[in-house]
Amino acid sequence: MAQAPDGSGTAPVKITNSATSVTSGLGVTHKLVSAAIAFGNVLRGTFGPNGLDKMLYKTNGEAAVTNDGAKIVAELLVKHPAAKAFVSLAESQENACGDGVTGCIILASELMSEAGRLLDRGLHPLILVKGYQMALSEVMKVIDSRSKAVSNKLVQVSRTALVGRSTEGAMEHLAGIISDAVNLIPDSDFERVRMVKSGEGTPESSKLIKGIIIQKGLALERMPRKLSASKVLVLSCPIELENTKVSSEIEISTPEQYEAFIDAEEKQIQSLIDKVKQSGAQVVFSAEAIDQRALHSFADSGIFALGGIERPIAEDVAMACSAKLCDHLDDSSNSLGQISSLTHKRLENTDGVDERIILEVGEEAGIVTILVGGTDGLAAEEIIRGLYDSLRSTCLAKEDDSILLGGGSLHMASSLKVREIAEECSGRERLSMEAFARALEAIPSALATNTGEDKIDALLELRALHRGGQFDAGITSMGKPGQIDDVWLPSYTIEHAISAACESACSLLRVDQVISARGD
Ligand SMILES: Nc1ncnc2c1ncn2[C@@H]1O[C@H](COP(=O)(O)OP(=O)(O)OP(=O)(O)O)[C@@H](O)[C@H]1O
Ligand SMILES: [Mg+2]
Repeated sequence: MAQAPDGSGTAPVKITNSATSVTSGLGVTHKLVSAAIAFGNVLRGTFGPNGLDKMLYKTNGEAAVTNDGAKIVAELLVKHPAAKAFVSLAESQENACGDGVTGCIILASELMSEAGRLLDRGLHPLILVKGYQMALSEVMKVIDSRSKAVSNKLVQVSRTALVGRSTEGAMEHLAGIISDAVNLIPDSDFERVRMVKSGEGTPESSKLIKGIIIQKGLALERMPRKLSASKVLVLSCPIELENTKVSSEIEISTPEQYEAFIDAEEKQIQSLIDKVKQSGAQVVFSAEAIDQRALHSFADSGIFALGGIERPIAEDVAMACSAKLCDHLDDSSNSLGQISSLTHKRLENTDGVDERIILEVGEEAGIVTILVGGTDGLAAEEIIRGLYDSLRSTCLAKEDDSILLGGGSLHMASSLKVREIAEECSGRERLSMEAFARALEAIPSALATNTGEDKIDALLELRALHRGGQFDAGITSMGKPGQIDDVWLPSYTIEHAISAACESACSLLRVDQVISARGD
């Protein structure tokens, strides 16, 4: 029998299995800090207007080319617990704002690397955390004081979020489309903006449809393919005879009886058709089936009808043209919506035939659709990701009516403010506040580096500009320090990025032991 090491005769207690590794003390911070730095390094090169893209290969062999921080982080098969904290940080920024993920990760990574140095010098983690939080509250004050109302700058917000996602030529055009879309939809509700690949042309040929596109073929070849202003009926009930729930047999013994039976059925169908026609609808959609006889009768009368569309699509169509989703034909006349035109389009591409029905509604559209031009799959997907980020940003800016100047100008202004407050602080928190101030400078520094400029020169010059009273100075798209005047972001995107980065760093700094069941 094994002897306990202390000689007491009892076996040593092991609460973990033999593969589990336990790291404590400075070893922990080194682990967390190196994971954080590695994460920052992956994303830093993609940051800003001159950032490059990453090409990602998934284990299933699929590829993507992207500049989108959220996409890169989501595709990294992260194993390390500290790196996982960064993945949730990226997710939280993406879910809250749709943009600003790269900046958020760079800042968090920088906060961790600064913390690593101070911990090595013997600063207690809790002093570090306190200093970081004091610095954060100063930054929030700077954000409040620098925030402006949106007024006519919505298109600049759309453009800033598109940075690095599309060719220069298309950017202006796409930013215009996004800001028009956001101005049209009610309540800045981004879910009312849909995106559909057009499968032809280039990104510059993208356009905004004030209405909705249904990707489905016609029910009958002879359905009308083009209609002008029409009333629309959207049904959640079928236009066909109901099947009885109980199986029954009808005994027919003479041809007259059979004829009478068929006649009765025809009459019932006809009455359903009449109800639809009497409602005044010229376009009919149903989430359920439409009887073939009804389809022919509608086509004869020049009414467009399509059944069997998915229920969420039926709901969208109703929302787009302000119709009520109608669950009984008796209510059809009170449920109509209005469109300004219907067009059927047939596209032949490499994936086969693509048929669409385009419903244009006009200024009153409840849903608008961006028809994204371009034929290349990977490039079109990256443009759609960019458009989506831009859409979220633009909605956020409009909703909060609060925007901030970008190009690292806010970060430099806050960094100087935090340094100034730190000087008045006599405790050890001062060191931690100064570390926070240095971490904030990583944003303008990354913008300069990615343009091929020297980051030390750029930072020194930018600091000098701010100290000289040029508070709107940042790193321009040419990589040089200078006045920034048309790069605007929603205040909330920056506020969330900085506070979430600080929160994540602080929660990692409070960790004093890593217990890994996988032994790493
Ligand atoms: N024309 C410009 N001149 C200077 N800086 C710019 C310009 N356009 C954008 N920026 C800056 O680029 C940064 C945004 O870069 P990027 O879109 O690559 O990262 P992100 O928004 O943090 O992350 P992601 O878009 O991947 O979610 C912002 O800080 C913004 O101020
Ligand atoms: Mg961005």
